[in-house]
Amino acid sequence: MPRLHDRVIAVTGANRGIGLATAQALLAAGGIVWAGVRDPVRMPALPGMQDGCVRRLDVTDAMQCEAFVADALERFGRLDGLVNNAGMLPDEGLDALSLDEVTLREVLETNLLGAWRLCKLVLPAMVRAGHGRIVNIGSGWGEASAVAAPGTPPAYGLSKLALHAVTRQFAACVPPNVDVCVNTLDPGWVRTDMGGQAASRSADAPASEIVAVLFSPPGSANGALLRRGTVVEA
Ligand SMILES: NC(=O)c1ccc[n+]([C@@H]2O[C@H](COP(=O)([O-])OP(=O)(O)OC[C@H]3O[C@@H](n4cnc5c(N)ncnc54)[C@H](OP(=O)(O)O)[C@@H]3O)[C@@H](O)[C@H]2O)c1
Repeated sequence: MPRLHDRVIAVTGANRGIGLATAQALLAAGGIVWAGVRDPVRMPALPGMQDGCVRRLDVTDAMQCEAFVADALERFGRLDGLVNNAGMLPDEGLDALSLDEVTLREVLETNLLGAWRLCKLVLPAMVRAGHGRIVNIGSGWGEASAVAAPGTPPAYGLSKLALHAVTRQFAACVPPNVDVCVNTLDPGWVRTDMGGQAASRSADAPASEIVAVLFSPPGSANGALLRRGTVVEA
């Protein structure tokens, strides 16, 4: 197993919000960040970021996802972690009747299929290596009890509900006694462009929780929904 400070972690949507805070926290912990961003020019310079590790990645583009993973495996020989963080929320204030199909498809392509694609590409390499952590960033709006509640954005809620199903399906593909874990992490309500300035948490809070999951010891939860460091649903 690679030492903590040598771990190679891919983070999608790493240029702002929770993704950026996660990249910063990983670099501070001595990790190597493989940053996937739609526009590399908009990635802030981060102390500790290795040259060539900011990659163009639109998670809705299957070929870019393939290249993102293949280039990391070619350069480092492994990926120790993947944070499926990229996400969008264009349907606040809508309900199932007012949601249009174009928006629904766009949200599912980004929040659900983007993460699904990258899990499918990364998991086999992790299983071969005998080690790996995948963190899919979920949401309280994606819980079964919340997905149809008043105020839950319909496409976003659906995408995050299904994302946790994706987590569980890939977690179930990990052979017994292989130290690979696939989990969903709910970051809470976070002050970012998406969460707004009234949100209760700074992006550093979920970032440190994500890092803890990425660096968690063998035998840690697999296929779970995690919130504030605890397993909410196994
Ligand atoms: N903030 C909250 O309160 C909250 C609560 C629960 C869950 N979450 C989840 O946490 C994650 C991060 O949210 P955030 O609050 O940090 O949002 P944010 O500040 O709006 O950042 C979203 C990030 O996702 C990227 N992105 C969007 N579509 C993409 C695509 N097709 N390909 C690649 N990257 C893409 C954005 O890139 P660009 O800069 O290019 O647009 C940006 O880097 C999301 O999955 C979100 O659903 C957030």
